[in-house]
Amino acid sequence: MKPTRPFHQTPVIAIDGPTASGKGTVAALVAARLGFHLLDSGALYRLAALASVRYGIAPADHEALAALVSDLHITFREGCAQLDGVDVSSEIRAEEVGNRASAIAVHQDVRAALVARQRAFRKEPGLVADGRDMGTVIFPDAVLKVFLTASVEARAARRHKQLIQKGFSASMENLLRDLRDRDERDSNRAVAPLKPAADAKLLDTSSLSIDQAVEEVVGWYRER
Ligand code: DC
Repeated sequence: MKPTRPFHQTPVIAIDGPTASGKGTVAALVAARLGFHLLDSGALYRLAALASVRYGIAPADHEALAALVSDLHITFREGCAQLDGVDVSSEIRAEEVGNRASAIAVHQDVRAALVARQRAFRKEPGLVADGRDMGTVIFPDAVLKVFLTASVEARAARRHKQLIQKGFSASMENLLRDLRDRDERDSNRAVAPLKPAADAKLLDTSSLSIDQAVEEVVGWYRER
């Protein structure tokens, strides 16, 4: 019989960073390479944001939002995100959903309502978790913490390409403005702000290919 480790020893690789830093893509590829589970925590905030629009809850109404988040009926299956049994994987990628996610993510009670759901992703043989506070708040005991960065211009160019590929319209000027606003809000909020954990390894992906970034993270994990 395979020996089982206590829950807290199941390895977690935390990959945090600003929006469009490439963390989602890098996290998914690292998880595939290692055969680990994947948590895209931004998708949870985006699902909550989408639900808040559907149920007509204002971004400032944190009590109603926290109650909504606690009762959210969401599932992740084979890369698809479902809300109330309906696949909303494409819808949650829209910029306005990301901006609303950032707006509701400032509330302590909304974040608290998502903690247990995020930690439940920690399963054998391991987890790669990406977001803003994976290494600082959700998995402070992660075996490897990576903070991905890239210049705002490099990120806007990537996001532009992604959105066009997905059939959304996008302007570089608006994207640059939105990314700067979102960085500002995510970094300066009082609760779980976007910042590297003290023991995080910094990886600037501005001039790295995705493969190079993945190699670096897998290499760090293997040599730790
Ligand atoms: O990573 P993303 O762009 O999908 O995230 C959308 C928003 O959700 C982001 O701007 C801030 C919020 N978020 C957060 O506050 N904490 C996380 N761990 C992940 C996302």
